[in-house]
Amino acid sequence: MKLWGGRFSEATDKIVDDFNSSIRFDQRLYYYDIKGSIAHARMLGNCSIIPEEEAEMIITELNAILKDIEEGKIEFEVDAEDIHMNIEKILIDRIGDVGKKLHTGRSRNDQVALDIRMFLKEETTDIINMVKELMTVLVNIADKQKRTIMPGYTHLQRAQPVTLAHHMLAYFEMFKRDIERLKDCHKRMDSMPLGSGALAGTTYPMDREMVRKELNFSSLTLNSLDGVSDRDFVIELASCLSILMMHLSRFSEEIILWASLEFGFITLSDSYSTGSSIMPQKKNPDVAELVRGKTGRVYGSLMALLTVMKGLPLAYNKDMQEDKEAIFDCVDTLKMCLPVFTRMLETCSFNTDTMYKAAQKGFTNATDFADYLVKKGIPFRQAHEITGNLVRYCIERNLAIEDVPLEELKELSGSAKDLIDEDIYNEISLEKCVEGRNLTGGTAPENSERHIKLAQEYLDSI
Ligand code: ARG
Repeated sequence: MKLWGGRFSEATDKIVDDFNSSIRFDQRLYYYDIKGSIAHARMLGNCSIIPEEEAEMIITELNAILKDIEEGKIEFEVDAEDIHMNIEKILIDRIGDVGKKLHTGRSRNDQVALDIRMFLKEETTDIINMVKELMTVLVNIADKQKRTIMPGYTHLQRAQPVTLAHHMLAYFEMFKRDIERLKDCHKRMDSMPLGSGALAGTTYPMDREMVRKELNFSSLTLNSLDGVSDRDFVIELASCLSILMMHLSRFSEEIILWASLEFGFITLSDSYSTGSSIMPQKKNPDVAELVRGKTGRVYGSLMALLTVMKGLPLAYNKDMQEDKEAIFDCVDTLKMCLPVFTRMLETCSFNTDTMYKAAQKGFTNATDFADYLVKKGIPFRQAHEITGNLVRYCIERNLAIEDVPLEELKELSGSAKDLIDEDIYNEISLEKCVEGRNLTGGTAPENSERHIKLAQEYLDSI
């Protein structure tokens, strides 16, 4: 017999039961469902909506059910549709009529809105902590590699020298924004919807404030229609997680490139790479590739959620049951990717010589040559032109700028001839190129030092 069977004269078809049922995926909400029911029952007793001793009976049994679920003693039923009715049914089976009072003044609509908020608040906090771990690894690498020079790229062409620390701290900033977004999203999950009833509120003299406090929410939802039908926070979380995945995916792409023989910037630890079933020499960056690959499913879930919600009239509609698998998959994917990515990064080694040699090729100091001329009074456009000609000359002869003897450099610089001195070689050294970019945000080791300090303060503040 269904908990809602009263108005029906025929049983539901088996295929409808299977189709309608969400127990196979929403059972993971059991903990929050029971905590929510306990708070609701306590409030019902406290407000004399049901007798206090009956509320106590309900609470005691709900705790026992929780324990039984945790010990694997409970089999959920597809017939009972979802986690909410499964638990209520078990309660009624165990304590009879008193159990039938639990659902007073409550609907599954506000119940599920509560459960999913409680669940996602917790998951969001877990994910924030995992991102924090990754950021700690980034800061540790940056701290050790403040003077490690590598090429910086635009269009994947060598552009200007940067330090490895600077590169790592770029990702630090990206993940910092992810944390800020997640914290902000958490605020909007933190509103307590019980009391919304099915859609219009309830006529019982319920104390929503008491429930809010017990369940540790910072506010109450202020409109019952919105309270039961708002899933913005689910979409927001999927959106935050999509951006976070996009960052992990970009980072993965770099790791994959850097681990190739073509780049050779890093060597992945054996324990974080995999072999080939046919090619004995292979060592593949599967972890990074999988993280990059899994990004698609998180974006997919975001699109699914946006689409589920786009045509729904107020208030609750069963379509909303579709929110769960999508957001669960987002959360599970992030919780799987983050720790393994962090460990992979932590255990890889940086081939700093290779990085340095790469920065020596590709005229990464050409801007600094032009800047040298500018500092001597040549307008930048003209300096750009002179340097461009010089680069062409070097390409034809397979030279770096610093390989060209002073007399030839002067000769090649036309009107700037007399402005170039011996100090040019120091000025265009990779070390000088990096050290000179010392303003806030620049790649100079001194600036990285300041950034690392701020980064550590930020991590301590989370
Ligand atoms: N299993 C449902 C869900 O996940 C719970 C709410 C059902 N409410 C209803 N009136 N059918 O959305």
